[in-house]
Amino acid sequence: MKVMMENNKELLILFITTLVVLLNLVLGVHGAEKYTRHDFPNDFVFGSGTSAYQWEGAADEDGRTPSVWDTYAHDGYVHGGQNGDVACDGYHKYKEDVKLMVETGLEAYRFSISWSRLIPNGRGPVNPKALEFYNNLINELISNGIQPHVTLHNFDFPQALEDEYGGWLSRKIIRDFTNYADVCFREFGDRVSYWITINEANIFSAGGYDEGIGPPHHCSPPFCIDKSKGGNSTTEPYLALHHILLAHSSAVRLYRTKYKEKQNGFVGISVYSFGIFPNTTTEKDILASQRAHDFYIGWVMEPLLLGDYPTSMKKNAGARIPTFTNHESKLVKGSYDFIGLIHYTNFNIADNSLVLENNLRDYYADMAVFRDGPDLFTNAEYPVEPWGLIEQLNHFKLNYGNPPIFIYENGQRTESNATLQDVSRVNYLQGYIGATLDALRNGSNLKGYIAWSFIDLFELLDGYESSFGLYYVDQSDPELKRYPKLSAKWYSWFLKGGSSSVEAIELEKDPSHVSIGHFFY
Ligand SMILES: *[C@@H]1O[C@H](CO)[C@@H](O)[C@H](O)[C@H]1NC(C)=O
Ligand SMILES: *[C@@H]1O[C@H](CO)[C@@H](O)[C@H](O)[C@H]1NC(C)=O
Ligand SMILES: *[C@@H]1O[C@H](CO)[C@@H](O)[C@H](O)[C@H]1NC(C)=O
Ligand SMILES: *[C@@H]1O[C@H](CO)[C@@H](O)[C@H](O)[C@H]1NC(C)=O
Repeated sequence: MKVMMENNKELLILFITTLVVLLNLVLGVHGAEKYTRHDFPNDFVFGSGTSAYQWEGAADEDGRTPSVWDTYAHDGYVHGGQNGDVACDGYHKYKEDVKLMVETGLEAYRFSISWSRLIPNGRGPVNPKALEFYNNLINELISNGIQPHVTLHNFDFPQALEDEYGGWLSRKIIRDFTNYADVCFREFGDRVSYWITINEANIFSAGGYDEGIGPPHHCSPPFCIDKSKGGNSTTEPYLALHHILLAHSSAVRLYRTKYKEKQNGFVGISVYSFGIFPNTTTEKDILASQRAHDFYIGWVMEPLLLGDYPTSMKKNAGARIPTFTNHESKLVKGSYDFIGLIHYTNFNIADNSLVLENNLRDYYADMAVFRDGPDLFTNAEYPVEPWGLIEQLNHFKLNYGNPPIFIYENGQRTESNATLQDVSRVNYLQGYIGATLDALRNGSNLKGYIAWSFIDLFELLDGYESSFGLYYVDQSDPELKRYPKLSAKWYSWFLKGGSSSVEAIELEKDPSHVSIGHFFY
């Protein structure tokens, strides 16, 4: 009897201990709820971002020539036939926007350079007007204590080079991209320390050459609806990404040999990620999820880490995936100082390997990637599921050598005509910044968080219909006036040391909580 009681007591203690551990896990996984800026290291930077074609406008001013995005939009593929001709007119309003950044308390600003503005037609002489613009923007940021993070290629590839040799499908891109990077490092590298070569390398390749949802709009049946631009969905995505990796590593080598010693900066590449969760606990769904990790993230990360593509990709794609020569492999391996991670949402993965049988596979068709929530290509709001970010960061930590990571895009999508009271964006930022803190505390090598986007932009496929901005841009006003949303006030409050858990309503009621807004009224 006594023995049994003892056992029961032990069981009870074991039970309680387990419960506490489980509770901690659950709380940990669901993201820190209450935190302040001071919970993050001092050298961890917070900022927000935009990109050239989405923000600058002035599309044919001062010598800029079209990018593939200008062509795509003018061909009518964007929602409502919209384009980035004017966008937010950042080209003329950059001072006003930097002033807003200062008011908000941004520590860093991520933007991209328009290649076909800096070097019209992609190759040849540098455009002095573009030099002047980017120098002015960078100086304005630096003099206000805001750290610039600069992307060289943010989807807006020069149309002239696309026409001349098929852009990223040709090896010629390596030389032209390296020359472009050289101009940027030489002209701006004395003030810019953080460089990203290619934005969302994986999504750019899959989107532009597999499904053909974005420029250059290549795809082949049965993987696309509009096949007017030609292409081959089973080979081109692999080829484009191969050349991206070679061009990227060539630019990194250039930086390391010619600029690093003097400028002391860092060069990385950006990868689009989503939380990857098996649809069921069956072995085939778990294996499919591993393939999803390989095909989306390992596609870029394993060459950078090991000098070769993931085994599962080489097995499934066979001769369709290019091989690195020994020399190329050495060049690509280790060619990064940090990774720019883009993350918005999560997907479920189910096995779909039966399609292998009819040999009609495109880039990733042997797994079904789907979600229960809203489709990726609508302007519906994202669910707040920050455990997907944690899943990805753990995966980077355990499988890709825990590289230094800046979260370069993360944010909530709403309809652009929605209210300035964007509570869902506040909830989203609060959840994901909390998850960032959890991951940091659990050993992820995180260096910064850059919310997407600073103001409402030309949102590529969605045009001006959906928005991610902390600030609303009134597209019906010829002056394109900017207005702070609740999320701008929350972010500012947080950046200036306030508690993340402040009630949205408090920010509205008590103006002492916010130092922005008066700017406009
Ligand atoms: C913390 O990291 C370890 C691996 O280093 C991982 O196994 C664990 O799941 C992580 N915890 C959370 C809550 O993400
Ligand atoms: C794509 O390329 C592969 C390999 O060269 C070839 O077998 C296939 O027929 C091509 N598909 C199309 C649609 O051209
Ligand atoms: C996901 O799993 C459910 C069972 O939980 C199943 O009904 C559904 O068909 C699966 N989805 C896919 C795409 O396989
Ligand atoms: C925004 O526009 C959509 C589509 O035109 C409409 O359904 C919705 O009611 C509008 N919302 C607001 C807040 O005006």
